[in-house]
Amino acid sequence: MKELKVSKINNGTVIDHLPPGRALKVLRLLGIDGSEGFMVLIAMNVYSKKLGGRKDIVKIENVYLSDEQTKALALIAPTATINIIRNGEVVEKRGVTLPDVVEGILTCPNSSCISRSKREPIKSKFLVVSKRPLKLKCHYCGEIIEEKEVSNYINLR
Ligand code: CTP
Repeated sequence: MKELKVSKINNGTVIDHLPPGRALKVLRLLGIDGSEGFMVLIAMNVYSKKLGGRKDIVKIENVYLSDEQTKALALIAPTATINIIRNGEVVEKRGVTLPDVVEGILTCPNSSCISRSKREPIKSKFLVVSKRPLKLKCHYCGEIIEEKEVSNYINLR
């Protein structure tokens, strides 16, 4: 029988198969800190038979991810599965995909990059030069963002 790690939710989003230890980073990315008042369930470093190892799970009541949040999630949790729950049932299940080019979402670490110029309305643009480990390169100035620091540069509207 399948063991239930944390209770089910009625409506909202379950983000499953997160890399172990990544749950709090995911909540930060989504801008959720608990002060919103809706139920948030977190499981960290729980065993997953399917993955044959540990994973994190985040369940958020009454919240559904935007396209931008889903794209940002791919940058920090490429193994994630997003489950949409309505009336207690999984009505949609999708993985996240890392694109070849990431537009917007990231702020270039180079403060003199043209994408950070206040006078130029230029959206940041990073090329994914390696997926594992993740490595991104700024299209404008060549600045590199490595996997371990990527969450520091995610900037959602
Ligand atoms: N879930 C939930 N509340 C519900 C329904 C599902 O919290 N009302 C959670 C489950 O606990 C699980 C995830 O949503 O963590 C996906 O549910 P389900 O597809 O039923 O589980 P699995 O088949 O194990 O999913 P997968 O194939 O993606 O591993």
